Amino acid sequence: MTELSDQTTRRAVLGGVAAVGAGAVLAACGSDEPKDAAGGDATSGDSGSGGDAAAGGEIGTTADVPVNGGTVFQKQKIVVTQPTEGDFKAFTAVCTHSGCTVGEVNGDTIQCNCHGSQYSAEDGSVKKGPAPKPLAAKKLEVDGDKLIVS
Ligand code: FES
Repeated sequence: MTELSDQTTRRAVLGGVAAVGAGAVLAACGSDEPKDAAGGDATSGDSGSGGDAAAGGEIGTTADVPVNGGTVFQKQKIVVTQPTEGDFKAFTAVCTHSGCTVGEVNGDTIQCNCHGSQYSAEDGSVKKGPAPKPLAAKKLEVDGDKLIVS
């Protein structure tokens, strides 16, 4: 009985080796083909990096943003303003001068404290340099009291 068991075991081991060998051949064939697919993966990775630039999703509530003022959501690098009651605007909080995160919103002005640039809380346009370009607007959706940026 022991001999039979040993033979069975040997066959099973040999069979397993054969299966592994076949698998290795298949894997080798398969690895030659997906070169184009790998390029596709790199492209799809771009959508992920978009999230890194300015994180989207729910960033706060309407109560976080004062009327005739605004709030800088530091973690998400987004500034949300409310120039008139119920009218919310969102912009990137990354200053177009040297990339600081803007510091605060004072009334109708978004202030960068690094070198003194000022932007309009209404449309993100430059009110005072050295910022060369406006703050880019972000798509903002108000769902009940939730602020959702995409
Ligand atoms: S980085 Fe904002 S003013 Fe220079």
